[in-house]
Amino acid sequence: MTFLFNSDAQRGAVFREAFARKLPHLRFAIGPATVDPGDVRYIISWTVPEALERYRNLEILFSVGAGIDQFPLKVIPPEVKVVRMVEDGIIRMMQEYVTLAVLALHRNLPAYVDLQRQREWRALPQKQAAERRVGLLGLGVLGRAVLESLKPFGFRLSGWSRSDKVIDGVTTYCGQAGLGQILAETDILVCLLPLTKATHGILNRELFAQLPRGAALVHAGRGGQLDHLALLAALDAGELAGAVIDVTEPEPLPADHAFWAHPKLLLTPHVASATQADTAARAVIDNIKRYEAGLDLNGLVDRTRGY
Ligand code: NAP
Ligand code: GLV
Repeated sequence: MTFLFNSDAQRGAVFREAFARKLPHLRFAIGPATVDPGDVRYIISWTVPEALERYRNLEILFSVGAGIDQFPLKVIPPEVKVVRMVEDGIIRMMQEYVTLAVLALHRNLPAYVDLQRQREWRALPQKQAAERRVGLLGLGVLGRAVLESLKPFGFRLSGWSRSDKVIDGVTTYCGQAGLGQILAETDILVCLLPLTKATHGILNRELFAQLPRGAALVHAGRGGQLDHLALLAALDAGELAGAVIDVTEPEPLPADHAFWAHPKLLLTPHVASATQADTAARAVIDNIKRYEAGLDLNGLVDRTRGY
């Protein structure tokens, strides 16, 4: 039985060492050239490996990343389970990034960076955290962890998901009706949604118009969720005061794109969070052990929902 590691060799070396210790009954292979396809039971990959049909005994396709939108689910045989990455390293990094971004917007950092460029020493009006409402779109593994990181600052927290949730200290909303409610009560909106048919283009003109004037956006979900022209229009009209953007469509962003130099926008190149080899290896090993013991897989994708 083979576990095929179809990603970068550096991470692969960390996985190999952990697999040898914890799952010695599995043959561990890096790269498709080194395997008998019929012996492969598990694959980890960022995208669907070439000629997937060769792996006729494949049981689980693990994603290297938390998102699985880069997997066209219809080309993966229905009996193959698709599992997204749920691991401590990626969670911790996302907590850091969103906390950084929310604090940057709360403390007017884009405006101060602009004032610095103009050599202007001027204080701007400052709200207290308790007066600032932070709303999370997406209450999954990452969204909920981010909320826990934001709690100590004293922000008023709310969150939106597909299904109803109860989270201590957080006002929750769900479904289409809930979206309008959370937007009306949000000063800093954070997007941590997966990219699906339902969330494609969700950060658009209609959505921005439902936020209070002067609200701000943190986008760390997926590029395909954001309408760039709508964001630029909302920033230029003063409807939105600022934005921290980590993901765009396309990536990389073209050199002549208006985001690069916009004074109200901070841009990072899809680095909010990344899978960490040691903690990810532990998570995948734990998941294979669960699977082999007949237990539920952590991060199993529901193909009908698309995430
Ligand atoms: P997750 O655990 O699957 O959570 C997804 C959340 O989104 C759930 O709360 C889900 O609602 C909600 N949701 C999905 N579709 C919805 C809809 N149509 N309406 C309302 N809510 C909806 O995912 P995760 O692990 O937190 O990751 C979220 C995303 O973060 C990933 O898919 C990826 O795109 C992005 N990401 C970005 C980076 C980066 O570096 N920028 C790094 C890692 C991940 P339910 O709870 O009701 O199911
Ligand atoms: C990164 O964007 C991920 O989905 O893990």
